[in-house]
Amino acid sequence: MNIKAVIFDLDGVIVSTDRYHYKAWKQIADQEGIEFNSSINHRLRGVSRRESLEIILERASRDYLEEEKQQLAEQKNEVYKGLLASLTADDLLPEVRGTLLTLRERKVKIAIGSSSKNAPLILDKIGLSSQFDAISDGNNISQSKPHPEVFLKAAEMLGVAPEDCLVVEDAEAGVEAALRAGMKAAAIGDARNSDKAHYKLLSIRELLRIR
Ligand code: BG6
Ligand code: MG
Repeated sequence: MNIKAVIFDLDGVIVSTDRYHYKAWKQIADQEGIEFNSSINHRLRGVSRRESLEIILERASRDYLEEEKQQLAEQKNEVYKGLLASLTADDLLPEVRGTLLTLRERKVKIAIGSSSKNAPLILDKIGLSSQFDAISDGNNISQSKPHPEVFLKAAEMLGVAPEDCLVVEDAEAGVEAALRAGMKAAAIGDARNSDKAHYKLLSIRELLRIR
């Protein structure tokens, strides 16, 4: 294959904000007396805020009203944004900067494909806002991963055919979304446990070996 573009998930691939998502949801779950741990959190990776809440509420001992759900989702986002306040360029995951630079040198297009509505804020805080050729995020999609929409929009913005795109993901839902989009998928971190990805990366730099 001939990779013309790499589409990166953001949380857990570019920056370790996946830890903050977990921390914020844990606070909400504890407050509500609902069991929540890192293995349940696995299912939250890549899916939208609202769908994440629904997964957490599966273990609740009562039903929640729509209004309560909206409040909890909002509260989680406030806690999460509080945790993002101290985010800086130092929080980039190892080898990200160098890998992006090498891709640029090779004239491979680079994009973000993230379910997060906070993606623009995070990219700004870590100083990468202007480093990508396209940013497709939770603000321009109607269905979140494993639906392929976010990646198909990224490919469209780049003007690259889906089959020439490689997606880098730490979420099983994200790997699935990439496959449904007709793209190649490289799994890193948590997603390495899934056998669906075409490639498994121990470090982000390893993606440079895929051509
Ligand atoms: C994804 C995360 O990147 O964004 C999910 O992996 C999160 O855990 C989703 O739920 C939505 O994020 P936000 O910032 O819009 O609440
Ligand atoms: Mg992720």
